[in-house]
Amino acid sequence: MIKDLWYKNAVIYNLSVGSFMDANGDGIGDFQGLQRRLDYLQGLGVTCLWLGPFQPSPMRDHGYDVADYYNVDPRYGTLGDFVEFSHACKQRGIRVIIDLVVNHTSDQHPWFQAARKDPESPYRDWYVWSDKKPADAHQGVVFPGVQKTTWSWDKEARAYYFHRFYDFQPDLNTANPEVQAELLKVMGFWIELGVSGFRMDAVPFVIATKGPEVKKPKQQFDMLRTFREFVQWRCGDAVLLAEANVLPTVDQEYFGDDGDRMQMVFNFQVNQNLFYALASADTRPLAKALEVTRVPRPSTNQWGLFLRNHDELDLGRLTEAQRKRVFDAFGPDKDMQLYDRGIRRRLAPMLHGDRRWLELAYSLLFTLPGTPVLRYGDEIGMGDDLSLPERECARTPMQWSDEPQGGFTKADDPVLPVISGGAFGYERINAAHQRREPTALLNWTERIIRMRKECPEIGWGDFQVLPTGSNAVLAIRYDWRNNSVLVVHNFDDRPHEVALAVDGEGKSPRLVNLLAEDHNDPEEDGRHRLVLEPYGYRWYRLGGLDYLLRRTEGPVGGAKRS
Ligand code: GLC
Ligand code: CA
Repeated sequence: MIKDLWYKNAVIYNLSVGSFMDANGDGIGDFQGLQRRLDYLQGLGVTCLWLGPFQPSPMRDHGYDVADYYNVDPRYGTLGDFVEFSHACKQRGIRVIIDLVVNHTSDQHPWFQAARKDPESPYRDWYVWSDKKPADAHQGVVFPGVQKTTWSWDKEARAYYFHRFYDFQPDLNTANPEVQAELLKVMGFWIELGVSGFRMDAVPFVIATKGPEVKKPKQQFDMLRTFREFVQWRCGDAVLLAEANVLPTVDQEYFGDDGDRMQMVFNFQVNQNLFYALASADTRPLAKALEVTRVPRPSTNQWGLFLRNHDELDLGRLTEAQRKRVFDAFGPDKDMQLYDRGIRRRLAPMLHGDRRWLELAYSLLFTLPGTPVLRYGDEIGMGDDLSLPERECARTPMQWSDEPQGGFTKADDPVLPVISGGAFGYERINAAHQRREPTALLNWTERIIRMRKECPEIGWGDFQVLPTGSNAVLAIRYDWRNNSVLVVHNFDDRPHEVALAVDGEGKSPRLVNLLAEDHNDPEEDGRHRLVLEPYGYRWYRLGGLDYLLRRTEGPVGGAKRS
């Protein structure tokens, strides 16, 4: 284990407290329930939890409408329960990062209530107002089809207020220094209670200029440095993980040229092109996405990688033809799609429950450049419930066993229905069953996580996409501290044979397979010939298993590659 920059070789697990485990039998998951499942999570091998919002909220957007930043929603427990939970994580060496939702508040937040009541209120300027409805109010809505405008009339305030998201989520005026000071206070509060950082929600909107006069919002990147400095003063190894679905040309702005802004950013570019590659077996756009999102390494910067999360699979950055290809493969029906840009299903049903395909997808999550972020339930291949609205379909309770309500609660009426019946029902898909089955997806995931942790080259190293002569096969070589790892993936449902020049000119070393016994020696021409079965994948070490005897020490995160 490498002690420093823990997030570069972490395995992050994302969950919502409300749908994980209900300890007190009211049908809603809570911190006590989650705490009882920490041994499960530790056994799986995750090293960091990312909790969705759990603060008091009217819960009209899965908690992304916060009504009090300094508390725990009573549905989930108390601040005392939170501290017990965070202590229990610390005992197990598991870190916790939490959602920081500060682009907007709930309209029920006392700040907004005060602001709308009284134009003289000090909170008035914490939000964004206009006397007239701006002409571009119908533009830039985030949830097309559900949300109509970004400016809504507030009767009490007798003014329009700006909301980038739903109308019950008024935007905070984040340029206001008082608001900024308050946001730092919020971060300081949770750091004191034991968290190791924040997943910053909707960052491009947080830092955008806002107001009726703003035609083209500008990003105020300096704000990110302010957040970063504060967090690191308070807790040296705390990190910020940005949700910023932006173009590769501006990614670097979120990291900062000197690595002085966000340590981590989710890689949406790779995510979308990965799904295109899975749908089409054409890995070229994915390889390009990897190249254009290459961050200078080694350094403190790191990508967060994911397959699915709590939102829809956003395909908005693909070309229309590419998007259609992914829709056809993974979400052909209208009710599987959402907001004209994405697919709202879980991973396992998208991949037709095909174990070979699922392993391929997960193997990629664990071997592309960055830190893997898993979604709860994906380790057992949970499904979705398309009868639920919008993104709720992929947020159903965790399926623990084949007992009533999947072992999630003793109540008859859980927060969202537990998926029951059919190929993905809790009767068939549950953690208890899978842990008894040596070949089950759960145990496979546990083993792959274990191996991933032993390959810090992937999280830390430099990478090179190697030519394979086949569009369906992607080969990536990682180098770090005199050690090298090679991963090869066949995206096709047909077998492929490839010849790889792994080591440039010199004599290529033996490839030691890390997951099975078929090692590979170079042929006379120095190249390695591999036959990959449909959806086949390989993890190799170059040389031999004495690599730890050969590993050199290096600067911690330090110097950038020039
Ligand atoms: C982010 C969240 C999403 C939420 C939105 C508004 O995109 O991931 O779930 O609806 O922000 O807070
Ligand atoms: Ca409960």
